[in-house]
Amino acid sequence: MNESLEDRERPDETTLLALREIARRYGTPTYAFDLRRVVAQVEKLRRHLPAEIEILYSLKSNASLGICDVLADCGIGVDVASAGELATALEAGFPQNRIFVAGPFKLAETIARLHHTPEAIVSVDSMSELQRLSDERIPNSAVLRLRPDFGSCAVVPAGSESRFGFTCDELQRCRDFLPSCNLDVIGFHVFAGSQVLDADRLNEHLRRSLDLSLRAAETLSIAPTYFNLGGGFGISYAPDGEELDLARVGEELASLAARATPARIVLELGRYLVAESGWYVTSVVGHQTFQGRPAVIVDGGVHQRADMCGLHLRKKQRPPLVLNVDSTVLTPTDVLGCLSLPDDVMLEASPLPKLSRGDILAFSNAGAYGMWSSPAIFHGSPLPAEAAFDGSDIYLMRERKPAQSILEDQHHVVRKTATSPV
Ligand SMILES: Cc1ncc(COP(=O)(O)O)c(C=O)c1O
Repeated sequence: MNESLEDRERPDETTLLALREIARRYGTPTYAFDLRRVVAQVEKLRRHLPAEIEILYSLKSNASLGICDVLADCGIGVDVASAGELATALEAGFPQNRIFVAGPFKLAETIARLHHTPEAIVSVDSMSELQRLSDERIPNSAVLRLRPDFGSCAVVPAGSESRFGFTCDELQRCRDFLPSCNLDVIGFHVFAGSQVLDADRLNEHLRRSLDLSLRAAETLSIAPTYFNLGGGFGISYAPDGEELDLARVGEELASLAARATPARIVLELGRYLVAESGWYVTSVVGHQTFQGRPAVIVDGGVHQRADMCGLHLRKKQRPPLVLNVDSTVLTPTDVLGCLSLPDDVMLEASPLPKLSRGDILAFSNAGAYGMWSSPAIFHGSPLPAEAAFDGSDIYLMRERKPAQSILEDQHHVVRKTATSPV
């Protein structure tokens, strides 16, 4: 078996101690991030990909400031998609000239911030947006996002059927507009989807994205200097899952970099950088039966794990670590959240020891698209706490707020014409 896969199955004693200590100090539900794991992913990419390929961290996968701090320190760039993400990237210390600002339409607050971030590169999603940004005379260089002209192999696809980017027809219209456009268009951006584990399929995405970008450069008669080819590097969620063969992807990228010269190739990665570092730590609060099996209820739920739904993780993720029970007698057990929502099922038929109230379950691979993509305030829930660990050093990233905090910033409505009680 793949060595690193085995490592993932059995976390070392330092990780177990850190997770226990985080649950003790900050309670549950809490996200806990293994910072060494985050740094290790950057190092792995650097080992396997050609040095000239630039890596950006896609903040949409996890915009927690503490995680951004660590990734900014690693010296990579960042891909943001809103004014809030841009503010976070700057606060974390990503240099302006390594910031890529994307998203289907830049809203007024983002545009205002771009005027103060002139070295960031902006991805323009449509003809309508190009006209708007040109009217606004933003000082940034731009790349045009292209809609893939090929089908996506990603688990979360963004291929020819998606709504994002210029179509071939729009590029023709763009060609007529460019001479009067106030933006300097320096290249292209293609993102074909997220969570691709098969290196050959991923390489096909990257190759076809470059082909499309080179054709677009011809259509527009420009000499591009910047190609963002997306990425979508997948991680293994299933217990018996394979890892992405990064060496093969590196070989493909070396040949694409040679074809792209003198333009540089950039990749934007979220899940690959942070998913495996995250643990979602919950406590058992009660018992039920579900589908004829014993089930436990935990104090979290799928409202804090948006990643669960798109990837159907309730059926195929690794069993959670049970932090305080050593028994080897395992029974297929369902793990349910505490929402009144039929789909609030964290895991089905997972081999677990007999669990009691207060036992701590830590779900692995929860670092990407968890809280940051979730309908987190469903059921009036405050956000979970967030902590990080670096070996035995533990840091609080986000305080747990009391239930009362959901009333913050809200105002009563006292009607001028009150309805009289019947
Ligand atoms: C445009 C764009 N770029 C980057 C990403 C990050 O993808 P991943 O987390 O798979 O690396 C996404 C995810 O949906 C995206 O839509």
